[in-house]
Amino acid sequence: MHRRLEGGEHIPVFAPCVGPDTLAHLAEAIDVGWLGMGAATKEFEDRISAFLGLHDRFVVATNTGTSALHIALRAAGIGPGDEVITPSFNYVADHQAIHAAGAQVVMCDVRETDLGIDCEKAAQLCGPKTRAIVPLHFAGVPCDLAGVYELAAQHGLRVIEDACHAFGSTKDGQRIGSFGDIAVFSFDPVKVITSIDGGCVVARDPREIEQLHHLRLLGVDKDTTERYKNRRAWEYDVVSEGYRYHLTNILAAVGISQIKRADEFIDTRQAVCGRYSRAFSQIDGLAVLASDFRHISPFIYSLRVLSGRRSALIEHLRAREIDCGIHFIPVHRHAYFASARRGDMTVTERIVDEVLTLPLHSCMREAFVERVIEGVRSFFS
Ligand SMILES: Cc1ncc(COP(=O)(O)O)c(C=O)c1O
Repeated sequence: MHRRLEGGEHIPVFAPCVGPDTLAHLAEAIDVGWLGMGAATKEFEDRISAFLGLHDRFVVATNTGTSALHIALRAAGIGPGDEVITPSFNYVADHQAIHAAGAQVVMCDVRETDLGIDCEKAAQLCGPKTRAIVPLHFAGVPCDLAGVYELAAQHGLRVIEDACHAFGSTKDGQRIGSFGDIAVFSFDPVKVITSIDGGCVVARDPREIEQLHHLRLLGVDKDTTERYKNRRAWEYDVVSEGYRYHLTNILAAVGISQIKRADEFIDTRQAVCGRYSRAFSQIDGLAVLASDFRHISPFIYSLRVLSGRRSALIEHLRAREIDCGIHFIPVHRHAYFASARRGDMTVTERIVDEVLTLPLHSCMREAFVERVIEGVRSFFS
């Protein structure tokens, strides 16, 4: 399996865990003869709902996490003239989705403790046009949700949680997405579970769910219910703006095969991250993001390399066939967003030259884990 990526000596940052089980689901989905959005899409949504433990909210699956963010913002009523606060230390998908919704991005700093949004600094950025906040649960570590929802209550803001890194993470025993306002997940090729590409919105308000269905499929009404039965509505109206953002049966079948294994994947990832943190917290010159992963479904293993030694460590690991990633280049440093309104970025500016992502796979080989630990240790010894 995955011979080119995993079979040799080279250790990639990401590696999918997709096997014969997925092929069997795909074969079955193709055999049904309905390739587009359909019953498998609905089944995937139901399984996401069960996995997250949803009681009072619904899942709308999309073709990417980015499209899920876009229609979540639109369903929340965000549009031209509005401002939306999100960290600069985030993936640019959020900023692009805010732009696509017609709103202005306002970028905020993060806290050093969890690299999630700094709510005190976010409060200073709130103005008359601020309508929403998009916090990120970086690397699967829940951000300061109490602070986020307090700020939202004070300023009347909608909250669209970017939970793309946090599928399965919990806060006070509840899975991210099962409480709060709106949450968005991604199932892109490198996420904890993948549908090759895909995402979803979790929302509570039945009117917003209906809007999300319209926004997802070209503004067409009625069609969702029919497609969920592998049929189409031949008489329909177009009731709103809309995009072609739906998730097909074929990709949903991949997602179903993966969500069946989500607990196994998360267990492996938690165990690997726990071992990394136990090893690396002993090393002066490194700062680990988390040590206890019991409540975290880790998407990446992120740590900080202090004293300007990140590039040297990357080279050291590369020489040992170990790849590293950098999450993220802060978005205010990218040309297109350089002039967007932003606040003080003291923490972001410091940590972006320190953060490093080490390899983490859902089916990670023991030998790989040992080599990563040894590779890092040997640099510092
Ligand atoms: C924080 C964050 N938000 C949003 C996205 C967008 O998800 P997708 O790749 O499914 O569009 C990503 C993808 O990497 C992400 O890391």
